[in-house]
Amino acid sequence: MTPLRNVVVFVVALGSRFASADLNSELTGAGVRAVFPGDSNYASASAAFNLRFTLEPTAIAYPTTPEDVSTIIQAGIDNNLQMVARGGGHSYVANGLGGKNGSLVIDMSSMKSITIDTASNTAVIETGNRLGDVALALNAAGRAMPHGTCSSVGIGGHSAFGGYGFTSRQWGLALDTIFAINAVLANGTIVRATQDSYPDLLWALKGAAPSFAITTSIEVNTYAAPSYAVVMEYTWSNMDYKTAGQSMYSFQNFSLSGPASPFAGELVITKGSQEGQVTFGFTGAWYGEEGSATSTLQPWLDTMPAPTTSSPLGDGSYIGTVAQLSGTSLNTSQTADSSDTFYAKSLMTPEDEPMSLEACTAFMQYLSTEGFSSDTNWFVQVELYGGPNSKIREIPNNATAFSRRDALFTFQLYASSSDALPPYPEAGFTFVDNMVTSVTSNMPSAWNYGAYTNYIDDQLENWETLYFSDNYPRLQSLKKQLDPQGLFMFPTSIEE
Ligand SMILES: Cc1cc2nc3c(=O)[nH]c(=O)nc-3n(C[C@H](O)[C@H](O)[C@H](O)COP(=O)(O)OP(=O)(O)OC[C@H]3O[C@@H](n4cnc5c(N)ncnc54)[C@H](O)[C@@H]3O)c2cc1C
Ligand SMILES: *[C@@H]1O[C@H](CO)[C@@H](O)[C@H](O)[C@H]1NC(C)=O
Ligand SMILES: *[C@@H]1O[C@H](CO)[C@@H](O)[C@H](O)[C@H]1NC(C)=O
Ligand SMILES: *[C@@H]1O[C@H](CO)[C@@H](O)[C@H](O)[C@H]1NC(C)=O
Ligand SMILES: *[C@@H]1O[C@H](CO)[C@@H](O)[C@H](O)[C@H]1NC(C)=O
Ligand SMILES: *[C@@H]1O[C@H](CO)[C@@H](O)[C@H](O)[C@H]1NC(C)=O
Repeated sequence: MTPLRNVVVFVVALGSRFASADLNSELTGAGVRAVFPGDSNYASASAAFNLRFTLEPTAIAYPTTPEDVSTIIQAGIDNNLQMVARGGGHSYVANGLGGKNGSLVIDMSSMKSITIDTASNTAVIETGNRLGDVALALNAAGRAMPHGTCSSVGIGGHSAFGGYGFTSRQWGLALDTIFAINAVLANGTIVRATQDSYPDLLWALKGAAPSFAITTSIEVNTYAAPSYAVVMEYTWSNMDYKTAGQSMYSFQNFSLSGPASPFAGELVITKGSQEGQVTFGFTGAWYGEEGSATSTLQPWLDTMPAPTTSSPLGDGSYIGTVAQLSGTSLNTSQTADSSDTFYAKSLMTPEDEPMSLEACTAFMQYLSTEGFSSDTNWFVQVELYGGPNSKIREIPNNATAFSRRDALFTFQLYASSSDALPPYPEAGFTFVDNMVTSVTSNMPSAWNYGAYTNYIDDQLENWETLYFSDNYPRLQSLKKQLDPQGLFMFPTSIEE
């Protein structure tokens, strides 16, 4: 942060203390609904998914059109406020509420239309939608797009930063399906960014959207919903850490051999029942020919001990696997929003320099000892992104702001307080930090690993490089052009 930027932030913060009365009349005068501190519904409107954060936005405004968004931005400028969009509200560090106090939140939850063009097989999806509702609407037309598992995650934040799901090896990330984005800029201008119109903006929105604009809808290419799909689940209970390290290493070896693109999977590691052990799991999916799922996985299974349990899941339909993986109703108007109290990190391992057996074993040893004594509820997922035959890596790293396409695996490392309520235990921070270090400290110091912006981490050092790699300088220069006053600022936003 430059000294100049500090001055700007100070002025903005000072302005916000006097903002509410004017802001209220400006928004209500324009017919935009907004919730302010003191309103009876303010507490629920400003609640974060991660209860580790209790934030006080200056207001939460609910646009119903792009013109409303422009009105809100103008009101924010008039009142010296910084602004953020909230989609589904599932940011790990409450960035959808600004990630700090005093922001003007533009909550997209009243903008939920989904329009499918059956002639071109494209869809226009407003950014207030949740993943489950998107999957249901597309499936009703026989279509699908790649996205993550949890049905209540918002498409706004998810597609802003990537969007990995089990169809991503076949179809890419959620943001790879986008060919146009309708957005409102920091000066209130409503634009449609495509490869021909505002191409730089489109590039930046595909991986770093909230630093550049409030997106109101994405226009995406859809895929025919697979005619057959199945989820596979395997568990090895009470696995000693050496076997677990070897198992992760052989899964890496299998991944590098390039299973066919309809194959997807992740390792899931949780606490063991004795010190020195972990519970080792694999959850995968197959979207290809019926009957070929297990044979695709067999080269890895051949290297493994016999599983404690294994089962194919789902009803054979594509949407059945989406529901199976979500575990909650895909229709999010039928489910209450959940919450948790947690700290999470990520680690993206480079495909061209895979983990050593030593690193895999050290990781499992750490989880089987520190993880055994930790009073948090924790899990680690090791998601398969790359390997030959993955669509994610076929796109160059500099083609979109999303910068880490050369990752083989993305680890999610996640620990919750024991009752999922605050406070989060202080020891839980170092516990999760050292999960990552147990791998990185066993690799060469120049190891080019990264981190994933959708598992956003407010304690990450060197996040500019870990998240954005070689794309960061271009993002900085675009930030200077498109948001010269620094209106779209939050922890880990792009800085000039
Ligand atoms: C239970 C759970 C499961 C998950 N599973 C997966 C998974 O399988 N794969 C995966 O890739 N990720 C997964 N995630 C991570 C998820 O993708 C991110 O947390 C995502 O950013 C949440 O988006 P949101 O709209 O719900 O959150 P929000 O908190 O609303 O937004 C997140 C960020 O995006 C910005 N943003 C939101 N909408 C807009 C918009 N319209 N314009 C500009 N910026 C916007 C916000 O300002 C904020 O910075 C999971 C998260 C949870 C909680
Ligand atoms: C935000 O304000 C609340 C209420 O004043 C306070 O409890 C909280 O610590 C503040 N959070 C931050 C990040 O400043
Ligand atoms: C590595 O993978 C190849 C191809 O799947 C397999 O033949 C070999 O046995 C594997 N080696 C180890 C150590 O897992
Ligand atoms: C989702 O559930 C709501 C409430 O039950 C219902 O009105 C709506 O029709 C459902 N949507 C779909 C796509 O099934
Ligand atoms: C990406 O990098 C390649 C190779 O360095 C270069 O030719 C190309 O112009 C770059 N593309 C973008 C969009 O910057
Ligand atoms: C708003 O910003 C965009 C992008 O920098 C620019 O093209 C446009 O001319 C600006 N509009 C106004 C009214 O200043």
